[in-house]
Amino acid sequence: MVVVTMSLGAVILLLMLMCGLGRVTSKDDQQEGKEEEEKKTKKEPQQQSKKKSHGKNQRGPRGPKSFSHPLLAATLKEHSDNILDLDFSINGKYLASCAEDRTVRLWSVKDFKEKEHKCVRGNVEYDHATRVKFSPDCKAFITSLAIGNTVRVFKTGKKDDGAAQISAGLDFPKKSSQDIINIGLGSNSNGSFVMTAYRDTTIHIWDTKGEILATLDTHHMNNNYAAVSPCGRFVASCGFTPDVKVWAVVFNKGGEFVEVRRAMELKGHKASVYYFSFNIDTTRTATVSKDGTWKLWDTEVEYNKNQDPYLLYTGSYTHLGPSLIALSADANSLAIAHSNRLWVFNTKSGEEEESFEDVHTQPIAKVAFDPSGRYLATTGDRHLRILHNVTGLRANILDMETKMKKHTTSKALKERLEHQIQETRNKLAEILGETKEE
Ligand SMILES: *[C@@H]1O[C@H](CO)[C@@H](O)[C@H](O)[C@H]1NC(C)=O
Ligand SMILES: *[C@@H]1O[C@H](CO)[C@@H](O)[C@H](O)[C@H]1NC(C)=O
Repeated sequence: MVVVTMSLGAVILLLMLMCGLGRVTSKDDQQEGKEEEEKKTKKEPQQQSKKKSHGKNQRGPRGPKSFSHPLLAATLKEHSDNILDLDFSINGKYLASCAEDRTVRLWSVKDFKEKEHKCVRGNVEYDHATRVKFSPDCKAFITSLAIGNTVRVFKTGKKDDGAAQISAGLDFPKKSSQDIINIGLGSNSNGSFVMTAYRDTTIHIWDTKGEILATLDTHHMNNNYAAVSPCGRFVASCGFTPDVKVWAVVFNKGGEFVEVRRAMELKGHKASVYYFSFNIDTTRTATVSKDGTWKLWDTEVEYNKNQDPYLLYTGSYTHLGPSLIALSADANSLAIAHSNRLWVFNTKSGEEEESFEDVHTQPIAKVAFDPSGRYLATTGDRHLRILHNVTGLRANILDMETKMKKHTTSKALKERLEHQIQETRNKLAEILGETKEE
């Protein structure tokens, strides 16, 4: 566990060093009017939750719009129409969102704990973006276009005065009349590629200049979801059939595309798989199915030697219809969303640790953990909700208390643990005391 955490830390540090993007500072002025109006909504007193906090919609003066919960860290409100997707950069510094308001916005994760949430705006000319994905170096992102039904690349950079800016780059040619359901960007030591997945059983693999390298037929009857793994090697898909298929996109050392090769299959669900999610280093994958279960898989296998992924856990959830799933970076928690409800599970015990209702006024469109594991982000309407991870803090306190009982002989260690426990308790108290509402 320590080794995993340390190597994860090293990877994140490395990525942070690689990331050239500067501080996000410029403020968008579009919606001041609306903001003012919303600020007038006075804070209601809110009860502090002790352990399990089952958040209910507090029907305040603005009716069903207001959502308050002790774990709500921030609500990001600059979009003027429904947000369709969000993505965290792998260095954990930025959150990107795209909406029907024809804009893409970049938010600074560091600001989540502040009162003000600034963002940098990029315009999607003559169209709007339905999906957004950061490039691994965090200097660019790709979007899928609603009307254009293809990929548009955006670059992030700085203006002469140092302010961050977003500029549109290349549009890929349109290659399918089917709607794009998701996009992905993969990059490994040998090469980079872009993926587009369609509602039928098609997936296109492109080079980064917009040339198609390969076309896959997933044989799912229809695709529900497809994604590129964070390690940048795999493309995976799920659909009507009860399996998840994983392919390796292979380039040679010289950077030339070689082939797309079948790598793994996650087999075990008894009905259609709605969605899946990789953890940050692709060692674990979580799936959610119509059969009423979620599954956690060990995907760190020698697939070249035909080793299959191991099933680690099967948990049940309240199946109400098509659901989304998100796995945390360390694979210790996962979140499932359906309509405007959200549940957080412990992947070791299968226990439901948190549940939230009426998180958004529209069905949740996307749920994701930030790479540091501090936050869980959701969207569905014009707002982004940022929730605190107190589950993690509580788990940390428990861990340290157990350690303290074991090491009663070392006084120095005991004192250090006592200090850390107190600090973590303070953090927890601060989060729970600091109720935020709209
Ligand atoms: C890169 O290419 C080499 C040889 O061409 C191959 O052995 C290696 O597996 C490739 N790496 C990836 C990540 O595809
Ligand atoms: C919360 O943090 C803990 C570690 O601090 C981690 O194990 C867990 O996966 C995180 N959960 C979420 C909800 O991000």
